[in-house]
Amino acid sequence: MKFIERKVLKQKPGKDEPLGFGHYFTDYMFTMKYTKEKGWHDPQIEPNEPVKFDLATTIFHYAQGIFEGMKAFIQPDGSIAVFRPEENWARMNRSAERMCIPQFPADVVEEGLEELLKIEKDWIPTKPGTALYIRPTIVATRVMLGVHASTEYLFFIILSPVGSYYAHGLEPTKLLVEDFYVRSAIGGTGEAKCLGNYAASMKAGEEAEEKGFDQVLWLDAKDKKYVEEVGSMNMFFVIGGEVVTPALVGSILPGITRKSCLQVLRDKGYRVSERRISIDEVIEAAKNGTLDEAFGTGTAAVISPVGLIQYKGVDYVINGGKMGEITKMLYDTITGIQYGKLEDKYGWRKIVK
Ligand code: COI
Repeated sequence: MKFIERKVLKQKPGKDEPLGFGHYFTDYMFTMKYTKEKGWHDPQIEPNEPVKFDLATTIFHYAQGIFEGMKAFIQPDGSIAVFRPEENWARMNRSAERMCIPQFPADVVEEGLEELLKIEKDWIPTKPGTALYIRPTIVATRVMLGVHASTEYLFFIILSPVGSYYAHGLEPTKLLVEDFYVRSAIGGTGEAKCLGNYAASMKAGEEAEEKGFDQVLWLDAKDKKYVEEVGSMNMFFVIGGEVVTPALVGSILPGITRKSCLQVLRDKGYRVSERRISIDEVIEAAKNGTLDEAFGTGTAAVISPVGLIQYKGVDYVINGGKMGEITKMLYDTITGIQYGKLEDKYGWRKIVK
């Protein structure tokens, strides 16, 4: 793979510097281009530096773009492991299909990612709870103002050393149930990881933050009745011994951490359901004391306990505002596998060779 060396390397964050999420970026990135004539071509590793684009480029006007989120972890033997990358490549190609973006070769981008990680190994943070976040993205790069699928694309992967997604770390989050704005409707783009989904969520997110909440809990667009997800996480509830997560009805992102948690829970013998769950059922359970736990799952968010939800102006505290047992078990199991502390019985760690 072609490699373009940079003249001066960046200053890395100090070992004890709080990383936050998405503030630092490594020296290099992977890029690959698409044109109608050549297909996907020229995969290469080059310096991660600002890139020039014509202001009439499709991505700036019509948001024809998709992304993924993955993480790399340093293992106890010093090797690098990526968590289930093949799942991300498969989902990214499904998002591509929904957004009229041509399918990309997963083997080429996996090779590019592994090369990039080997070069950037020293950027992978090692403190507990930190990782190297991987952001593969495709943007439409044709210069044209008509509303049509682009004929040119740029695939890139940038890397960012991160700590926890929420500023308060593993402290349980506070969610505001959103019953006016909608994130996505069935038939829309909610199950694709496309840029516009995140732009559409910002207004509600800002209003919730102003009121002291971390995020909004989205309801279905049609009836505002069923719980969907949190934009940055899929949701799980533990109600009277049943672990419930909203079914993937078309408007919810099919999370890879969600899928992994479902497998762990089923293997450990928990009663697990993927089904529609109404906000009324959640609130009723909170009122009658059977809502034992609530948590979100995501690559960035990992397993995040939810300590409070507010619906129609009323606060419902969950598990005394503390992390519950099942939430903790999942956090320990998933991060144990990711950091190489537990046996990888599912084959979820991809070791970079
Ligand atoms: C991820 O978890 O990787 C995501 O893409 C969510 C994003 C809001 C940070």
